Amino acid sequence: MLSSKRILLIVGGGIAAYKALELVRLLRADGAAVRCVLTQSGAQFVTPLSLQALSEDKVYADLFSLTDESEMGHIQLSRQADLLVVAPATANLMARMAAGLADDLASTVLLATDKPVLIAPAMNVRMWQHPATQSNLSTLRARGVAVIGPNEGAMACNEFGPGRLAEPAEILAAIRDRLAGAEPLAGRHAIVTSGPTYEPIDPVRYIANRSSGQQGHAIAAALAALGARVTLVSGPVAVPDPAGVRVVKIETAAEMLAACQAALPADIAVCAAAVADWRVARPAAEKIKKKPRAAPPSLAMALNPDILATLAEKGPARPRLVVGFAAETSDVVAYAKAKLKSKGCDWMVANDVSPGTGIMGGAENAVHLITRRGVEDWPRLPKAEVARRLARRIAAHLDPETVAT
Ligand code: C5P
Repeated sequence: MLSSKRILLIVGGGIAAYKALELVRLLRADGAAVRCVLTQSGAQFVTPLSLQALSEDKVYADLFSLTDESEMGHIQLSRQADLLVVAPATANLMARMAAGLADDLASTVLLATDKPVLIAPAMNVRMWQHPATQSNLSTLRARGVAVIGPNEGAMACNEFGPGRLAEPAEILAAIRDRLAGAEPLAGRHAIVTSGPTYEPIDPVRYIANRSSGQQGHAIAAALAALGARVTLVSGPVAVPDPAGVRVVKIETAAEMLAACQAALPADIAVCAAAVADWRVARPAAEKIKKKPRAAPPSLAMALNPDILATLAEKGPARPRLVVGFAAETSDVVAYAKAKLKSKGCDWMVANDVSPGTGIMGGAENAVHLITRRGVEDWPRLPKAEVARRLARRIAAHLDPETVAT
């Protein structure tokens, strides 16, 4: 509950601004006092009246309104808040924050504040991926600004990709975390594996799989957000490196195992990578030639090391909590339970990756968490939210006194 907490919500422009209304409703229902600052472009999408009705407070908009300045100056607005939340944070607003501009009430409050700030970016996918936005994001993170989202999905501009505002419930959870000042994993080291592996056939060909790395990367980011030092060992993926995480890039399963072992000791290991079970026993040193009318080559395969099972082996270097993933296309929970035993890990996150679920490579995941105590069925959620929940569960497991899930 956020009772007696005061949130200053800055609503930027963009179609996602309508979700700010739901966020205000959730915050009020959670007991928070909400005061809104509406940017000029935000006012193109939501009205001050709607925000005022939901927040039950005056809405502030114009820096140069003499009445506002005499009643409640920009310094005062920030002074009377426990947390500043920018939702949606547009590319433009992020750029102005990063540059330290103060050319309207929102940017002036953000420049003048000494309170913690959380931003929820929302924009077109290309704007999000533009190096300028990514560099502004790094600048803001380096200054201690917390970031929630954006999520990946279909967007109002008919494109698909990262850029969608995080759901109001996710923003609420991030607000709670931020206000709890919670870094329950501070001082812990986590190793996370993510993405596919590439197993070479010859110098130009390889065997791989459809893993996008989204879930593993989101887990690395979520553990880092709770204060863990994270080593992310990743196969080749298109998703960006999470901020604040050490990323070791590998291609083969053998390289992934070596990188994980080099990163030990660790308190936590989460093996989310889709590691190739087999590799080509003797990859050709030269490109294999296609000869007219010759039979296709046959490939002798060799078993790859099992990274999860190796990390879970008993011994002084074993991380305290070893978590595996089981991607299955049928009897998901039964197979995952068997895998928990055979691999010797502590938890299994099981999911159905049958074609048609849209999970492999998609933005959402529906998982079952299998621990030695039983099975929990989680609802279908954005991968970032699955990651956040898992990170909190991990923190609660390692430190049950201080972390409530
Ligand atoms: O046996 P299966 O591939 O279904 O097991 C999946 C789990 O084992 C995942 O956590 C995956 O990261 C891990 N794994 C591994 N090394 C392998 C194969 C799977 O770490 N060679």
